[in-house]
Amino acid sequence: MLRRNMTERRYGIDALGIAFPPTFVSLEDLARARGVAPAKYTEGLGTKEMAVPGVDEDTVTLAARAAAEALASGGVAPSEIGLCIVGTETAVDHSKPVSSFLQGLLGLPSSCRIFEAKHACYGGTAGVMSALDWLASGSARGKKALVVCSDIARYGLGTPGEPTQGAGSIALVLGEAPRLVSIDLATVGTYSSHVFDFWRPLDSKDALVDGHYSVSCYLDALRGAYAEHVRLAGATEPTAAMLYHVPYGKMAVKAHRVLAELSGFDAEATFERLVAPGLVLPSRIGNVYTGSLYLALASLLSSNQHLDDEAISFFSYGSGSCAELFRGRVTPGATRSFTGLRGRLDTRTRLAVDEYEALFRARDEVRSASMSQGTTTAAKARFLGIDGGKRVYG
Ligand code: HMG
Repeated sequence: MLRRNMTERRYGIDALGIAFPPTFVSLEDLARARGVAPAKYTEGLGTKEMAVPGVDEDTVTLAARAAAEALASGGVAPSEIGLCIVGTETAVDHSKPVSSFLQGLLGLPSSCRIFEAKHACYGGTAGVMSALDWLASGSARGKKALVVCSDIARYGLGTPGEPTQGAGSIALVLGEAPRLVSIDLATVGTYSSHVFDFWRPLDSKDALVDGHYSVSCYLDALRGAYAEHVRLAGATEPTAAMLYHVPYGKMAVKAHRVLAELSGFDAEATFERLVAPGLVLPSRIGNVYTGSLYLALASLLSSNQHLDDEAISFFSYGSGSCAELFRGRVTPGATRSFTGLRGRLDTRTRLAVDEYEALFRARDEVRSASMSQGTTTAAKARFLGIDGGKRVYG
């Protein structure tokens, strides 16, 4: 009841920034190199291109670039941020959080609470929900929250997971009376379960995955989160768009079929209108793990659809597992700042498969860096290497 009263004020996403590597590999090229029919990747998985990070990029540089863009696009000064959470499952240190690097690169105030959240792909939504609760509780005292989802998705070369990699960061400024999307905190349907569908042991750079089992865990979690959402909401109303966690496009197709069956609507007839607009950017960047759901949101907002005041639904899934199904409402005018977003992808460089493989291997080599490289701005941060065990950006 208390939570319901608190949500009479609107909280949600006030500004959004995106960073992705300037290079990618075509899934058709990758399929040919692996002796697989290209249609298996492009139609069977529903992915066209996969972002490939360079050796000077990591979870920190992607996060810094996305965060700088979110702050600039929303006209939000670093001094206005009172909480900074980084959701990631590809952190750069077991102890020092990515948020501490951001604190320095962005110049966040020393009074800002900073930490990292980990729960596979759910880590981003864990940050979003914690930040919204912080805002709604009154602890924000007029400040905004910055939640940055940043990851480099990586499976072994030649494994079934390989075509479902990707890299990127989505940064969200969260606040009261948000300019993009308000979130209904009273009806967030949560589901969690202890499963071994996808994990990455401490000594492994590559994720391990029980691929087909992970698909059924995702769908089980969707059923569970939906049931909880319906219990809290009392009834479900149709929404103008449905955004899913998108490890690859076909997963959203499967999820939509399950939700259609549960809600009693026609999956095939509604897919193009409700789901497809959210899949355009994910199909060209790949799985960005924690940021995937919010990349789908950016894809929707850049789709030229009329969304003013429309309700949209979100489904976040993180292996292991935790999932949440929730609803939001698009603030009138929210789509205005996303018009050029899709075109930015056209300026990237397409790598040959051997160039992608060389970069994949080069990223395993620890490089030494000199501490004398000086300071940098968040928008231009590059990973230079490691000096005395410390990561250096410049
Ligand atoms: P696979 O076994 O190589 O592929 O791996 P498949 O044989 O299942 O085929 C995939 C689809 O392509 C199938 O369609 C085939 O029919 C079709 P479906 O039956 O599923 O509708 N296909 C073709 N289509 C057209 N032309 C052809 C053709 N051949 C086959 N010639 C798998 C697929 C997803 C398992 C693998 O890529 C993988 O392990 N990926 C990583 C795990 C993953 O993404 N899981 C998703 C759910 S878990 C999750 O989302 C969490 C996650 O993001 C991590 C986190 O939380 O941190 C992964």
